[in-house]
Amino acid sequence: MMNLKKEIKQLKQEKDAVILAHYYQDPAIQDIADYCGDSLELAKKAQETSAKLIVFAGVHFMAETAKILNPSKKVLVPDLDAGCSLADDCNATDFKKFIDNYPEHLILASINCSAEIKAMSDLVCTPSNALEVVNRIPKHKKILFAPDEHLGNYLIKETGRDMIVWNGSCLVHEAFYFNKILDLVVEYPYAQLIAHPESDAEVLRIAHFVGTTSKLLNFVKQDEHHEFIVAAETGILQELQRLVPHKKLIPVPIQDDISCACRECDFMKLNTLQKLYDCLKNEDPEIKLHHEVAHKAAVPLKEMMSLH
Ligand code: 13P
Ligand code: SF4
Repeated sequence: MMNLKKEIKQLKQEKDAVILAHYYQDPAIQDIADYCGDSLELAKKAQETSAKLIVFAGVHFMAETAKILNPSKKVLVPDLDAGCSLADDCNATDFKKFIDNYPEHLILASINCSAEIKAMSDLVCTPSNALEVVNRIPKHKKILFAPDEHLGNYLIKETGRDMIVWNGSCLVHEAFYFNKILDLVVEYPYAQLIAHPESDAEVLRIAHFVGTTSKLLNFVKQDEHHEFIVAAETGILQELQRLVPHKKLIPVPIQDDISCACRECDFMKLNTLQKLYDCLKNEDPEIKLHHEVAHKAAVPLKEMMSLH
């Protein structure tokens, strides 16, 4: 049988490719990647790379972001169907009608959206720098935020800003089973509950720490507690456990399947080692973007990237 990891490494060298993997990818993919990270860190790696070919093991909007930042490079994604419920919740036609109702508002899009939505936006942020980006917007400016209502409401709570929020959500982070979280909090009284800001408001209200993927990793690494209830996609558990092998990580089950001990993003998990190998070998599927859309989307995206 073919040794996929060895073949991927060889192809990577031959083709001068870089493999970027989100923390929600399968452990086998994270192991073979040149860089693992959250959506912002991977966008930075994509922007900085000198490699000829970018293979993005993540979801479509992330690979699209890499392409917008590197219009002349080939950007591949192992499975083109690796989408995102948040991005799907915000289609360009409806969004255009929506924003036309608010001509005075500054349009801020979280990175979890299509290139078309980014092209209609004044600014882009990711879950991890959203607070910073909002705080840089002049106080008198009204904001229209898309596509994640939970992150949007969290931003309103934290900043007190006048904000209209598009009504989209992430199927994964929204699904954590609140009553089960309460049970876990009672069962593990010394544990810290940590949550991604795309989670439901009631989860965020009781969380000891709210942060995006990398911030959760740093928190668990630096915090003195030994037990953590983790309301985030299960993919980060591998990296967390590697960083803190002596700490106990308790995944939160989801609403519709209380027997399941964790929650996975099915879109992310469409990518497999075999598909990664195939796409590197065949240089397909490739991300293709309409030139004008990519050009417009690059403006708010590059402005955000210049902050880091
Ligand atoms: P991160 O910025 O924490 O990676 O969140 C983006 C996301 O939702 C990944 O699916
Ligand atoms: Fe989209 Fe949620 Fe999956 Fe992230 S975890 S890719 S926001 S569906």
